[in-house]
Amino acid sequence: MGTWDLLLTDARIATLCATGAPYGIIEDAALAVSDGRIAWLGKQEDLPQSGAAETRSLLGSWITPGLIDCHTHLVFGGNRAGEYELRLNGASYEDIARSGGGIMSTVNATRALSRDELADYSAMRLLDLKFEGVTTVEIKSGYGLDLETEIRMLEVARMLADEYGISVSGTFLGAHAVPAEYEGRTDDYVAFVCDEVLPAVAEKKLADAVDAYCERIAFSAEQVARVFDKAAALSLPVKLHADQLSDSAAAALAASYRALSADHLEYTSEEGVAALADSGTVAVMLPGAFITLGETRLPPVESLRDKGVPMAVATDCNPGTSPVCSLLAAMSLATSQFRMTPEECLAGVTRCAAQALGLAHDRGTLEVGKRADLAIWDIGHPRELSYWIGHDDLEDLLVEGLSVIC
Ligand code: NIG
Ligand code: FE
Repeated sequence: MGTWDLLLTDARIATLCATGAPYGIIEDAALAVSDGRIAWLGKQEDLPQSGAAETRSLLGSWITPGLIDCHTHLVFGGNRAGEYELRLNGASYEDIARSGGGIMSTVNATRALSRDELADYSAMRLLDLKFEGVTTVEIKSGYGLDLETEIRMLEVARMLADEYGISVSGTFLGAHAVPAEYEGRTDDYVAFVCDEVLPAVAEKKLADAVDAYCERIAFSAEQVARVFDKAAALSLPVKLHADQLSDSAAAALAASYRALSADHLEYTSEEGVAALADSGTVAVMLPGAFITLGETRLPPVESLRDKGVPMAVATDCNPGTSPVCSLLAAMSLATSQFRMTPEECLAGVTRCAAQALGLAHDRGTLEVGKRADLAIWDIGHPRELSYWIGHDDLEDLLVEGLSVIC
């Protein structure tokens, strides 16, 4: 008989396993941790006789998987509140981007910062997420667009993980925008990304995946395909900003590369949804960008649901289209704007988000053998997590079985 490191008793557990029970709920439950992994969970009355170095009664609190924000751009310099104001006075996002603002203004602000400055500003946003239950965050590059700054952004992402005890998944997004020095030479920039930046990023093991922005103001399907071919050659999985502002058949493109995820999807057609269903690609819903841009075209949630496409929810935390540093707020917005159910939203920031990062084997549900990344909540039911905006009832947060906030 072994000895557990930690035993949590008198708990209510939402495993988020897709076993049929809503939220995967187990009432009157206990959960044991050994070596940072879940060693046992189930009804407390079935608890095996085993010792634990530490036992804590949760007095009826809920345990969910630590939340996963699977789409952020949270490492950047400056902000774009001025541009937001311009948009509210009539300018469009695309007009601002075409006149050299938009992503390029954040590129200039990001290039100007040292590694430590960039880490300091970005840490504030990471901590906002952490203090409301997030234990894994995806962070993209894409505001450097030169070799040095793209690498600096990804190094900062890794530094933040070490410093704040949060798991970070790094994504290379060199094909986010065409920098001023390549203006009018988009194909040359794509070649630079494929031949120089991506190989250097891969060599330093700074990226877990490769993303691109497929849109009429960014990169064509053919240019994205070149980036994805290079990613495949370097054994890196891909994901895509797809069909956000127009139907670029980008969801189908992502599916044809068996992408981990296709994100945004406001303009995705029925064919695009069918392609995602066939490829097992996760659809990532980003309601923060939808409301900030004043979008009216909804992503095809009903059709994604009907075809069984897993749906994740993320903040898309970025200075241009989604100044959102709350995953719980993103969940609430996904219910009110996209009519996703509270259960879909919680699965969208746990099980489906883990799948969108290629980490489903390791986290995203509460099962024996998975990481003991646990959020503990003083709530009456897990549906409350998709209800409040600007309030949370997080009691404790454990990463690999150790408290990271108390
Ligand atoms: O996810 N769509 C492209 N990328 C970001 C926006 C980036 C920006 O405007 O700075 C997004 O919405
Ligand atoms: Fe994004």
